[in-house]
Amino acid sequence: METSILFPSDPDKISEKDILHLHPFSTYNSNTSRHLELWAIVAMNRDNAIGRNGDLPWHIPEDMRHFKELTMGHPIIMGRKTWESIPRRPLPGRRNIVISRNPDYYAEGAEVFCSLEEAVDACREVPFIIGGAQIYEKAVPFCSKVFITMVDSPADDADAFFPPLSEAEWKVAEESDFFTSKTGVNYKFITMARVK
Ligand SMILES: NC(=O)c1ccc[n+]([C@@H]2O[C@H](COP(=O)([O-])OP(=O)(O)OC[C@H]3O[C@@H](n4cnc5c(N)ncnc54)[C@H](OP(=O)(O)O)[C@@H]3O)[C@@H](O)[C@H]2O)c1
Repeated sequence: METSILFPSDPDKISEKDILHLHPFSTYNSNTSRHLELWAIVAMNRDNAIGRNGDLPWHIPEDMRHFKELTMGHPIIMGRKTWESIPRRPLPGRRNIVISRNPDYYAEGAEVFCSLEEAVDACREVPFIIGGAQIYEKAVPFCSKVFITMVDSPADDADAFFPPLSEAEWKVAEESDFFTSKTGVNYKFITMARVK
């Protein structure tokens, strides 16, 4: 990670290049000339597993509803593979933003950007990073909140993981009791807030 990108040497002389890049725990938006926070939302198990064979390792309809309630009205930013994993896309009521290195990638009903920086710069409301593993890996260092659904289910053959949140940088801001889904899976909601 290039420090110069994160911390422009002189804030009074932010260059065109700098304003396209992320600031720590908030993003400078050249459309609004304001900093916006960046949030992530994820369902994972205790091993940080989030995906298997391009899909989720579990089915929790109640978590889908929770995801919808939290993200409604916000831009949602996702990697190309996560976009392609969504059965009925775009997700309604939200700006769907897809990141792909392919400048010709077309996603009907979504906007496509070639970098996370360009994607967040296009947002006027706090965007949610909604995955998958590659995009979380890149974005979480800039996030101030992570909304976790902690799923009490093994996923031995998982192939996609959420990056670890260090105790030095993150604290639990809110934590629910465990619920049981109608599919039998136990889960709880945890909001993590960045402390530094
Ligand atoms: N449990 C959860 O909450 C949750 C949430 C979301 C997803 N998932 C799961 O996660 C898995 C998918 O994750 P994934 O890591 O394989 O894929 P992903 O992060 O969804 O998408 C990866 C793609 O994003 C693009 N990309 C990545 N980094 C980029 C960068 N720096 N600049 C521009 N484009 C970039 C590339 O697209 P191109 O190849 O087109 O260039 C790359 O192939 C699936 O199993 C899915 O079900 C789970």
